[in-house]
Amino acid sequence: MRKYLLLVLALVLVVSFTAVGFAQDKTEITVAAGSVGKELELTQKAAQMYMEENPDVKVNVLSTPDLANDRLGLYLQFLEAKSPKVDVYQVDVIWPGDLAQHFIDLNEYGAEKVADNHFQEIVQNNTVNGRLVAIPWFTDAGLLYYRTDLLEKYDRKVPETWSELQETAKYIMEEERAAGNPDFYGYVWQGNAYEGLTCDALEWVFSNGGGTIVSPDKKITINNEKAIEAIDMAAGWVGDISPTGVTGMGEEDARKMWEAGNALFMRNWPYAYTLGNADTSQIKGKFDVAPLPAGDSGSSAATLGGWNLSVSKYSEHPEAAADFALFLASEKVQKMRAIEGSFNPTIKSLYQDEEVLEAVPFFGKLYEVFTNAVARPSTATAPKYNQASEIFFQGVHSVLTGESDATTAVQYMELDLKDLLGYETGEPRQP
Ligand code: GLC
Repeated sequence: MRKYLLLVLALVLVVSFTAVGFAQDKTEITVAAGSVGKELELTQKAAQMYMEENPDVKVNVLSTPDLANDRLGLYLQFLEAKSPKVDVYQVDVIWPGDLAQHFIDLNEYGAEKVADNHFQEIVQNNTVNGRLVAIPWFTDAGLLYYRTDLLEKYDRKVPETWSELQETAKYIMEEERAAGNPDFYGYVWQGNAYEGLTCDALEWVFSNGGGTIVSPDKKITINNEKAIEAIDMAAGWVGDISPTGVTGMGEEDARKMWEAGNALFMRNWPYAYTLGNADTSQIKGKFDVAPLPAGDSGSSAATLGGWNLSVSKYSEHPEAAADFALFLASEKVQKMRAIEGSFNPTIKSLYQDEEVLEAVPFFGKLYEVFTNAVARPSTATAPKYNQASEIFFQGVHSVLTGESDATTAVQYMELDLKDLLGYETGEPRQP
C-alpha cells in the first residue's frame, strides 16, 4: 500500500511539473471583454477555439462592467498606467478617436488583408491618422422590440411614429393592467445617466430633425426646437408608459423586464433577440423586431453602436494578441456569434449566409437599418467624445427626472460643449 502511495505521489509530481513546464512555455494573453447577455460565454468559447488551434497560447478572458462608461473607466486605469496586463481590448465604436494613442496599428499585423471584407464605414471609423487601431467585431443598431401576441390580441399595428407608439403603449398597458397585471408597462428603454442614454436620446432627436448634437463639420447643433421637442416627448413617458425607474435602466435592466413579460415595447440592441427566445424567457416566440418609430422628420433613426478589438501598445505579446484579435473578428467566429448570440457581423457576406439568416431572420429583413444607422459625433469631437457625450446624457437625464426643462437643458449643453470643444454653433444635420 505504501509503495503504491509513493508511486501515485511521484506520478502527481511529474504531471504537475510537466504542466508548469508547459504553462511557462506558453504565451499568455488577456482579452478584456463584455459580459452583456451572452457576450462572456461566447468570448470564452472563441478563446477555447483559438487555444485548440494554437496550443502554445493561453488566453485569459477578463470580464468587464456592463455599462460602457464604467468599462471605459476600467480600461483607462490600465492604459494610463501603461499596464501590460491586458493585451486585447473590446472597444466601443465611439472610442477609437479618444483611445487611439494606446493601440497598435493592426495593419502592421495582417489586418490589411482582411479589412476589405468588413463594412468600410466601421473600418474608416477605426482608422485614426492612417492607423487601423481596431478591427471591427460586431455592429449594433437600436431596434424596436414588440410583442406580436399583444398587438394581435388588441388589433394594433407596429407603430411607425413616436405618437403611434405612445398611443398604442398606453392603451394596451391599461388593458393589461385591468386584466390583472399591475406590473405591466408600455415601453422600456435605456434612461440611466450613461452612454446608453446618449444612444436612445440621439434616436429621439435625430428622428425628429434635431441633428446629431455636434455635426460632422464640427458645429454644435443641439440647441434647437426639434431637439427640445424630442427630449420633452421622452420625459413625458417617464412614470406614464415607462416606469419611473426607467431613469436608472441600462440595456440589461430593460431586457429583464421585457423577458419577464412586463413590457409591450422595448428599445434595445440585436443581442436581446436570441435571449428573448431562450427557454428562460417568458416571451419566447411572442415578439419580433422593427425599425424604431419616426419622428416629425419622417425618418426612423437607429444609433450606430458596436464593438471592435484593439491591441494595447503596452502588450508584451503584440504578435500573439493581434493574431487572436484577428481570429475573433474572423468570419468563423463572427458567424458563430451571429447564430448563437444574434451579434451582428461586420463582415458583409455573412448577411447572405443561409444559416445566419435562418437563426436571425431580421439580419436580412432589417439590413438597411444596420447600414444606415446614425453615428454619434465621436469623430467630430475626438479625443473628447466621452466628455461631450456626458454633457449630453447628463442634460437629458435632468429633463427625464424633472430637475430641468428641455429648453434650459439644451442651452446648458450648448454652453458646456462650447467650453469643452471650442466649436461654433450651427444648424442640425438633417436625415
Ligand atoms: C451597445 C453599443 C455601444 C454603446 C452601448 C451603450 O453596447 O454597441 O456602441 O455605446 O450599447 O450602452
